[in-house]
Amino acid sequence: MKYIYYIPLLTLLIAVSGCNTSQKESVTSPDQQIKVKIGLQEGRLYYTVAKKDQTILGRSFLGFELQGSSLKDRFTITGIRHSSFYEQWDQPWGEEMTVENHYNEMIVDLQETTPSARKLSVVFRVFNDGLGFRYLFSEQENLKEFVIMDELTEFNLLQDHEAWGLAHDTKFYEGLYEKLNVSCLDTVCTPLTLETAGGLYLTIHEANLTDYAAMKLTPTKGSTQLKVYLTPWTTGEKVFIQVPGATPWRIMIIVETPGDLILSRLMLNLNEPSKIADISWIKPGRYIGIWWGMYMKKHTWEMGPKHGATTKNTKQYMDFAAKHGFSGVLVEGWNPGWEKWSNYSFTESYPDFDIEEVTRYGREKGVALIGHHETGGEVARYEEQMEDAFAYYKKHGVHAVKTGYVGGILDGKERHSSQFGVRHYRKIIETAARYQIMIDNHEPVMPTGLQRTWPNLITQEGVRGQEWDAWDVDEGNPPVHTTVIPFTRGLAGPMDFTPVTFNFENPVLPQTRVQTTIAKQLALFVVLYSPLQMASDMIENYENRPEFEFITSCPVNWSATTVPEAKIGEYVTIARKDRDSEAWFVGSITGEHAREAQIDLSFLDDNRSYIATIYRDGKDADWRSNPYPVEIEERTVDSGTVLVINQASGGGTAIRITPNL
Ligand code: NOJ
Repeated sequence: MKYIYYIPLLTLLIAVSGCNTSQKESVTSPDQQIKVKIGLQEGRLYYTVAKKDQTILGRSFLGFELQGSSLKDRFTITGIRHSSFYEQWDQPWGEEMTVENHYNEMIVDLQETTPSARKLSVVFRVFNDGLGFRYLFSEQENLKEFVIMDELTEFNLLQDHEAWGLAHDTKFYEGLYEKLNVSCLDTVCTPLTLETAGGLYLTIHEANLTDYAAMKLTPTKGSTQLKVYLTPWTTGEKVFIQVPGATPWRIMIIVETPGDLILSRLMLNLNEPSKIADISWIKPGRYIGIWWGMYMKKHTWEMGPKHGATTKNTKQYMDFAAKHGFSGVLVEGWNPGWEKWSNYSFTESYPDFDIEEVTRYGREKGVALIGHHETGGEVARYEEQMEDAFAYYKKHGVHAVKTGYVGGILDGKERHSSQFGVRHYRKIIETAARYQIMIDNHEPVMPTGLQRTWPNLITQEGVRGQEWDAWDVDEGNPPVHTTVIPFTRGLAGPMDFTPVTFNFENPVLPQTRVQTTIAKQLALFVVLYSPLQMASDMIENYENRPEFEFITSCPVNWSATTVPEAKIGEYVTIARKDRDSEAWFVGSITGEHAREAQIDLSFLDDNRSYIATIYRDGKDADWRSNPYPVEIEERTVDSGTVLVINQASGGGTAIRITPNL
């Protein structure tokens, strides 16, 4: 389904004038609720944002420090152009089928009043659920290639809202989000989610990061004003720009419930449509892998007596996958380099891993091999091999590859979230697309919706995943973590969190374990969206566990998503409708606090009866002392039902709802 209209409403040309300092203009959302105003103060462009009668951003200035000059003041407005846009577009995979893209646009053209008369435009798009804006650099005499030393974009929050922040230098974004008032934040990553005293939920992030540095936010002078901070190159520059060019979009979601944050598609709408014509090879799916066993020290990545990635083990995993309906088996540790986590080869395998044979076997069983490229952060070495590496996998019929960049810094020099890193990740995604390969990017730069343009970017990490429960002696992931990330990192796109651990005994580090009940492990499969979704445990731990049936029946691609109840950092319930049937799947989780979930099933079709199979925390379940009990219950339900279910501390509920035929 595709329906587009584009209306240039009015082109307002304002005469260039040296004293044009207070010229104002505004644009509202299609429903008139959100209003963005712009103006000049002493030649500096600012914008303000309000929703109904609440001012969300006071005067927030825009501009840049460039190498050798500023591009921030002595401006006059030379034109303001307005238009509106509406379309519906279908997602090849996603949390729903059809996305509505409806906004009013205002482009503000600026020119310096100085002899160099450089031009800069800012485009604002205002949606019913927020706004995005970006800078445009048009072709001109006095601005060719240039270097951004600092982006001065501000978000001048007028009140000291509560914020869920992650320190900007958190390695690979694998940290716990902390709730602080804005004035207490240090420099943080985006998405940054805020709750206002007036009952609004705001998320600041970016969209369409393609050749720029990732955006972080830094508070100015301990106030409630945030300013963009860009990850620098090691030589100090932030971004090298080619004219004509544009920055990524700076976005702010503005909604009235936490659930509506999850349902916003503003970030995707601000990315370009797909550049991949034939997407028949892009297939969401459930996968298992030769992986958790490495953390449990049953297996090793490198070759040796306990080598995990052997032909024999892979076939065993493929047998299990075929039997239980998993489409892929990830195999890590198949190639030389693991002895030192460096100098990897991507075109030769260890002698005990016969790629020809395992892929042949997989084809016979209808199970795909999911490849793995750990680079150790050695980008140059990876780029040298990338064409051959993807050709090698393509030759063996592999259509998905997990990439990894473990290593403090790329090529011993640049940060993952710098323009250097951003360029590299983008190159890999585009190259992989030419070989019809999907990418699951671990240790990425924070995602910004590029999957709309490159739907082979099927999922990413950039989150503190379940693996931390295997090896982090100090903390692991406290139960609250998964009630926060759907509203922070999760808003940036699919997360390869890798849930579904069934055995909580950790023989290697007995003091460390997954901090949930089993029912919550099931629920996470629905709550934490990823179209390539892993059941991460070793296969033997799934044997004789009736509750595993929830996972083997649970789709990963959806035609609709809704959020019946949510409180950030406390609990969240998400219901999703299967793309290929009339069935719904519900995941409901709580943090540290036991609670009574009230799950309103009004999302079901009216006048229809359904069977709900409920996987709930069993009697006396508790993540600390008694995590395993699960009760499985069947009930007849309809759109008038509100399920009232007790959830244990660190617990949850998973529900499959199928039409009662
Ligand atoms: C860290 C990744 O998150 C994990 O999934 C992977 O197994 C290791 N790096 C090795 O590549």
